[in-house]
Amino acid sequence: MQPSLPSLRVEDLRTTNSQMARCIELSKLASRSDVPVVLLGETGTGKTLLAHAIHNSSPRAKGAFVSFNASAMSDTLLESQLFGHERGAFTGAQQTLKGKFELANGGTIFLDEIADMSPLAQVKVLRVLEYGEFERLGSERMLKTDARIICATNVSLRDRVRHGKFREDLYHRLNGLTILIPALRDRREELPALIANELRASAMRQGKKITAIHPAAMDRLLAHDWRGNLRELSHTVRTMTLFCDGKVIMPDHVHFPPDIVNETAATDGRTQARGMHHDGNGRQDGADLTLASAVRRHVDFVYKQANENQRRTARLLGISRATLSRHLRRCSHLSQAS
Ligand SMILES: Nc1ncnc2c1ncn2[C@@H]1O[C@H](COP(=O)(O)OP(=O)(O)OP(=O)(O)O)[C@@H](O)[C@H]1O
Ligand SMILES: [Mg+2]
Repeated sequence: MQPSLPSLRVEDLRTTNSQMARCIELSKLASRSDVPVVLLGETGTGKTLLAHAIHNSSPRAKGAFVSFNASAMSDTLLESQLFGHERGAFTGAQQTLKGKFELANGGTIFLDEIADMSPLAQVKVLRVLEYGEFERLGSERMLKTDARIICATNVSLRDRVRHGKFREDLYHRLNGLTILIPALRDRREELPALIANELRASAMRQGKKITAIHPAAMDRLLAHDWRGNLRELSHTVRTMTLFCDGKVIMPDHVHFPPDIVNETAATDGRTQARGMHHDGNGRQDGADLTLASAVRRHVDFVYKQANENQRRTARLLGISRATLSRHLRRCSHLSQAS
């Protein structure tokens, strides 16, 4: 059986694509040393998975793998998350808490979405990297940490430095080795094998006896642009497995999820950084990109796929009949409005 994703090792990764082969080769090198690594790749390309794999293949595998996403952290929480705090250090600190750097001692700390770190977080992280020591909030005792650093980003850190958004000194500290993970559209020749692997795993999980993909269904899959990369692939295969009640995946079982990449960008304000026209109301170049609109389109799609059978639609969507009715009412407003 395939190892579960967080227990995957670099040696388990296979590819026939030269860019991906380079990425695996560099990951093997990275796993044999403590050099700080930056994983650069679009969303869904497998950065988090590769960070786990490098850790699992490294001499630190028995230590902890500790993730930290500084972009989602308020400045007030930041220090206690990174360095921990003593009981009573501030109002509400009822117990002593170990910080991420302390927990990762002897293991790996994974700094996710590093490009979005606030200036304060950048200063704090730089200090630990420079001195290898820190103190918990409310304590004067210096603690040492020996944590290996792996970072992930979907934008070039060098560009962030150039635009004054990322500290250059921190960039040099973090960037021992940059590993570029190719987008799925740049390894198209691997799509049939990747789809087949995902389908095998997904059919097994769902207890389905699917044996083939109809050529027309495969054509649809191969023609898709996969901007959500492996995450989108895995999501699509899971959905088509759900829809398929026979042995063969047919074209109408293939449904691509709403445009997750643009939806995310439009709702978290990254749209302008990607050079798109965005009017601030979730609309881009006339298209409604809000999450609510994506949900409506998805519900509508699944409802039609399920031959407008509400019980089946609710089961496929994993929601109650009552919730589905509410969504369907919204869908009908949508079609009346358009
Ligand atoms: N090598 C792989 N083989 C099979 N599936 C993979 C592989 N890499 C990633 N995936 C699938 O893609 C999904 C996304 O991977 P992951 O979370 O590592 O991407 P990411 O680059 O960290 O995305 P984000 O930028 O959004 O954090 C995983 O949950 C998994 O389903
Ligand atoms: Mg990730």
